[in-house]
Amino acid sequence: MSETPASGRIPLDRTPQWAALGKHRAEFGEQHLRELFAADPERGKRYTLRVGDLQVDYSKQLVNDRTLELLRELAAATGVAELRDAMFRGEKINITEDRAVLHTALRAPREAVIEVDGENVVPAVHAVLDKMGAFSDRVRSGEWTGHTGKRIRTVVNIGIGGSDLGPAMAYEVLRSYSDRGIDVRFVSNVDGADLHEALQGLDAAETLFIVASKTFTTIETITNAESAKAWLLTELRADTDAVAKHFVALSTNAQGVSDFGIDVANMFEFWDWVGGRYSYDSAIGLSLMIAIGREQFREMLDGFHLVDEHFRTAPFEQNVPVLLGLLGVWYGAFFDAQSHVVLPYSHYLSKFAAYLQQLDMESNGKSVDRDGNPVGWQTGPVVWGTPGTNGQHAYYQLLHQGTKVIPADFIGFAEPVADLLPGLVAQHDLLMANFFAQTQALAFGKTAEEVAAEGVPAELVPHKTFRGNHPTTTILAGELSPSVLGQLIALYEHKVFVQGAIWNIDSFDQWGVELGKVLAKRIEPVLLTGEGAEALDSSTAALVAEYRALRGR
Ligand code: F6P
Repeated sequence: MSETPASGRIPLDRTPQWAALGKHRAEFGEQHLRELFAADPERGKRYTLRVGDLQVDYSKQLVNDRTLELLRELAAATGVAELRDAMFRGEKINITEDRAVLHTALRAPREAVIEVDGENVVPAVHAVLDKMGAFSDRVRSGEWTGHTGKRIRTVVNIGIGGSDLGPAMAYEVLRSYSDRGIDVRFVSNVDGADLHEALQGLDAAETLFIVASKTFTTIETITNAESAKAWLLTELRADTDAVAKHFVALSTNAQGVSDFGIDVANMFEFWDWVGGRYSYDSAIGLSLMIAIGREQFREMLDGFHLVDEHFRTAPFEQNVPVLLGLLGVWYGAFFDAQSHVVLPYSHYLSKFAAYLQQLDMESNGKSVDRDGNPVGWQTGPVVWGTPGTNGQHAYYQLLHQGTKVIPADFIGFAEPVADLLPGLVAQHDLLMANFFAQTQALAFGKTAEEVAAEGVPAELVPHKTFRGNHPTTTILAGELSPSVLGQLIALYEHKVFVQGAIWNIDSFDQWGVELGKVLAKRIEPVLLTGEGAEALDSSTAALVAEYRALRGR
């Protein structure tokens, strides 16, 4: 265990700042956004912040100046700034794993100095980025060839969790910035169907597998990588010599990589101070770098860095990740909000919510504080969402007229992507008209009087009334470029950080994923032989027996 002292903090819900917020919430009552906007014609302008290319309008949130002041006082009292500074300094703030938390070093400029255990880690970060750059140049130019001398046309990233979701999401986002002559596919699930489908139509001679695993022990990844290796060797009718030209690894575990049969010369390294869910701008981004090229990858990292610097230096009144974090704390604690929906109005962000789910829920899905005591307050929300406008025709009904408080982030872009077919460009205004309309409808609704004035029969008025007052944040940027993607991700990373700091939880461990892994290991042999079934609980034993019978065992 860490020598870092336990936080020793008084429980959050016993602080005077928490009590003040509770009192304020009661006074705030059911004030409607209609009233808040009517009382302050400048509200839209006053409650808008800017960071980099992102304009962040939080005027449609259920807050007033006093709320924001009290929330900032809570942030001050709970040491958000101190923990943030400790993170940037490379201190071991991941207490249960005794690790530094330095994803910010992955995007630091070459000349920066960031020390872990007295050693500047920035030169190593850039050495790996340079190695990735040289390798991706060779793959993109066709200089790197497979075992039979053919150039690479398909890259298959095999990884799961943070070793999949980041690059898979970002590849989708930046497709229009990618080399369309190289297809990148992602395999994560231990269900053989995933690899089966990814391999369809592939020529093994033109395929490069990237095995991405921080630990290089993750059963899904190692199993899929072994299967991919067997497929490759069968297809090429080659022996293991062929592996070197078709397999590279991204890992912190050189021994594991070499045991698997990948030459460590073809390994791209990262470090234990990079959490899996914070890793896609490390070596884990190699598949993305091959797709978009090293320059645009750097632009993305610079976007991350811009927001890192903002988070590190901006006063809390102007600090966007601090603000977003505080708003989430406000709704979880004082409105009993259980979930948070993220609604990007860009089809390229179709995997964004899935990415944020790991970032947020694996980080802040905790129920004991940093001292190991049960928390008495809400921690991380359920994060979900899909791109607009699809959701409008599915679950927005619940957002508009359901009974739950679900704060929403709307993310949109002024420009469509540069290479959109000219005939499709006109659709962008329609997309964005929906984007603006939805936050308006959610905030202001439609009163029963307005509905009745339209001549709606009295018995239908309640059904056609929109209460409104649903809180939203609108994030608007010029275009969805590599830099803007980096800015967006860093914004959410730091928002999650702020919340974890206030809730006094360790946002950087993930012990909750372990038990299921251990039990699966125990159950797998029972499925094969039936032996040991008697030790299972009666529900699982019956289900396993049925499974075995269905499999003819
Ligand atoms: O089991 C959860 C987890 O450890 C995630 O935190 C991580 O991103 C994922 O598994 C994959 O881990 P690895 O990169 O070590 O294969």
